[in-house]
Amino acid sequence: MSISQVDLSIGKEEAELVQQCIDARWLSEGPQTKAFAESLQAFTGSKFLSFAPNATLGLYLAFLALDVPPGSEVLIPSYTFYGSATAAVFAGLKPVFVDCNPKTFNSDVEHFKAALTPNARIMMPVHIYGQCCDMTALMAFAKEHQLLVLEDAAQALGAKHKGRHAGTFGDIGVVSFYSDKTITTGEGGMLMTQSEEMHAKISLLRNQGRPNAGTFIHPSLGMNFRITDIQAAIGRAQLKKFDAIYAAKVHKWNFYEKALKGVGDLRFMEVNKDSNLIAFRFPILSKHRDGLMKAMTDQGIQTRGFFYPMHLQPKLRSEPAVTLENCEMLYAEGQCLPIHFQLQDSDLQFICDTIKDYFKKG
Ligand SMILES: Cc1ncc(COP(=O)(O)O)c(C=O)c1O
Repeated sequence: MSISQVDLSIGKEEAELVQQCIDARWLSEGPQTKAFAESLQAFTGSKFLSFAPNATLGLYLAFLALDVPPGSEVLIPSYTFYGSATAAVFAGLKPVFVDCNPKTFNSDVEHFKAALTPNARIMMPVHIYGQCCDMTALMAFAKEHQLLVLEDAAQALGAKHKGRHAGTFGDIGVVSFYSDKTITTGEGGMLMTQSEEMHAKISLLRNQGRPNAGTFIHPSLGMNFRITDIQAAIGRAQLKKFDAIYAAKVHKWNFYEKALKGVGDLRFMEVNKDSNLIAFRFPILSKHRDGLMKAMTDQGIQTRGFFYPMHLQPKLRSEPAVTLENCEMLYAEGQCLPIHFQLQDSDLQFICDTIKDYFKKG
C-alpha cells in the first residue's frame, strides 16, 4: 500500500489543449493565456488579472508593484509557506511576524493588531488551507492604519469570504497553480487587482517595462515574469474540472471528519463562518503527532507536517526572539492527511484505520 500526499487529475483534456499550442506553433504567452485569463476573471470576479511563473514570484512582483519605501515593514502571518516571507525580503522589505488563530489557522485582526509597528506599510493576510480570512475585519483594520493589503491566496482558488473571492479584497491578491493546488499548471501563479492603475504597473513590471513587445524602447523598469501558452492550456482544461475536484474533496473531507471524530485526542481545523472551504489537505492536530506520523509512514502513507513558523526560520528569525504560541503549537501538533482527487474511499478507510489502530495500541 502506498498513498501519496499529492496526485494530479490530468489527462486527455489537458493533452488536447497542449496539442493546440503545438499545432498553432505558439508556445509563449498567446491565445491560450488570453483565454485562461478570461476564464479566471469570470471564475474569480476579479477586474484585472495577470500571470507569474509561480506564486512566490507573483508575491515578489506584487511587492514591487506596491512600491513602498525600502525597509518598510510587512505584517506577515508566521504560519505560512516560506515564499510568503522571502518574497518580501527579496523586495527589500522587512517581515514582522504575526500569530494566528489556533482553530482556523488564519490570522485574525487581533493578531495583526498585536504585531502592528509604526513602520508597517503592508499587511499580508494568508488564506490558509483553502478557507478565506475574515476580510471584512482585516480590510477595516488596514484602512484605519493606512496599510496596503497583499493577499496571499496561493492555496485559496475558489475560496470566498461572504461570497467574494479570496485575493480580490486587497490591493493585490496572488494565487498559486503549483502541482498540489486544487487546479494546477505545474508551476504558475496569478495576480489579481481591482485597480486599473495597479494592473498597469504590474503589466509593465512583468513584461520588460514596456506595454507591448515589438519595440526596444522600455519606458519603465521591468523584468520577465511571463508564463507559457502550454501552462495556460493545461490551466484551461484544469479549470473546467474545478467543480468535479471540489465535489470529490468535499466528499473526502466529510469522510475523514465522520470516521475520525472522537478518535484519540484528534482536533480538526474549524472553518470561519463567513468562508466556504476548498479543501487543500485534511489537517489534524494531536499531541501524538510524531508517533502518528511514524505509524502512517510504516503503512506506506505519505505524511506531511505543518509549516515551520517563519519567526523561527534560520534566515528569518525575529530579533529579539518572539514567541508566537499558536503558530508554534500548530507546528508541534499538526500534520496533513492527503485529500487529492484520485484517492478512493478504500484509501481513506485505510488511513483512518491506521490512525485508529495507533490510538488503540496507546
Ligand atoms: C501560502 C502559500 N504562499 C505561497 C506559496 C508559493 O507558491 P508557489 O509554489 O506557486 O511559488 C505557497 C505554496 O504552496 C503557499 O502555500
